Amino acid sequence: MIDSPNSSLVELLLSTAVTAAKIAGSVLLDYTRSGFHIEHKSPINLVTDADRDAEQCIIEHIRAQFPHHAFLAEERGREQGSSSPYLWIIDPLDGTTNFAHGYPIYCVSIGLEYCGRCLLGVVFDPSRNELFTAVDGQGAHLNGHPLRVSDTNDLGNSLLVTGFAYDIRETPRNNLDHFAKFALRAQGIRRTGSAALDLCYVAAGRFDGFWEVRLNPWDIAAGSVIVREAGGRLTDFLGNELSIYGQELVASNGHIHDAMLKVLNEAASHR
Ligand code: IPD
Ligand code: CA
Ligand code: CA
Repeated sequence: MIDSPNSSLVELLLSTAVTAAKIAGSVLLDYTRSGFHIEHKSPINLVTDADRDAEQCIIEHIRAQFPHHAFLAEERGREQGSSSPYLWIIDPLDGTTNFAHGYPIYCVSIGLEYCGRCLLGVVFDPSRNELFTAVDGQGAHLNGHPLRVSDTNDLGNSLLVTGFAYDIRETPRNNLDHFAKFALRAQGIRRTGSAALDLCYVAAGRFDGFWEVRLNPWDIAAGSVIVREAGGRLTDFLGNELSIYGQELVASNGHIHDAMLKVLNEAASHR
């Protein structure tokens, strides 16, 4: 049995993640000024040198403090420390398409699992200087102020958000059926292009609910802790407890959750 990290270690883990996210955020902002090179992973899935550089800076910073920890990062996959109970799950730039077009909705996302449970999450939006943080059992914060989900309890009065995966052209499970149903039930739907920020905005009560299919663990590891600690609910489409490895996610203020699940299951022609 491995002992849980004590409070001073948790503090150090959090401050390391915060510093890494801020370093990466300034790397991203520097690239918006100096320009960057864009490559295509697939026809609509982009990657830039900003993604790779930011990722490198995050891993270097964390590794300097915790040399034996394991990493799962979007651009380089799984790395080192496979026997470590600590796994850092990193998206150095969530919202690459936005970033590449100069649309300032993107962030750095850093989550930390300890023995398979998400222990903390840090999401930094460098364009607005908004730092979202949460530690298991200690609440969620935005720039140090406590966060709470909204109290909207009716789907018809809810502002929802969703997203679409890069294989939207190839897969029948493309979320368009769910989108069409929610468009007729919710007050409004947004598609921001950053799943990590979508989760933080649910935590902050800016959105009432978020759903998406075909997400990756680095999109949601940090944001899911932030929603949970802000009093929100997170499940898969069947209402089971969220696994960040399970691809589908529903996050809400809790009050509209069952109503969202009902719509998702009515619309589920391609589940
Ligand atoms: C994407 C964003 C987007 C979501 C996609 C993700 P990326 O991440 O989070 O909102 O709809 O599914 O892949 O590629 O910008 O890091
Ligand atoms: Ca992402
Ligand atoms: Ca990314």
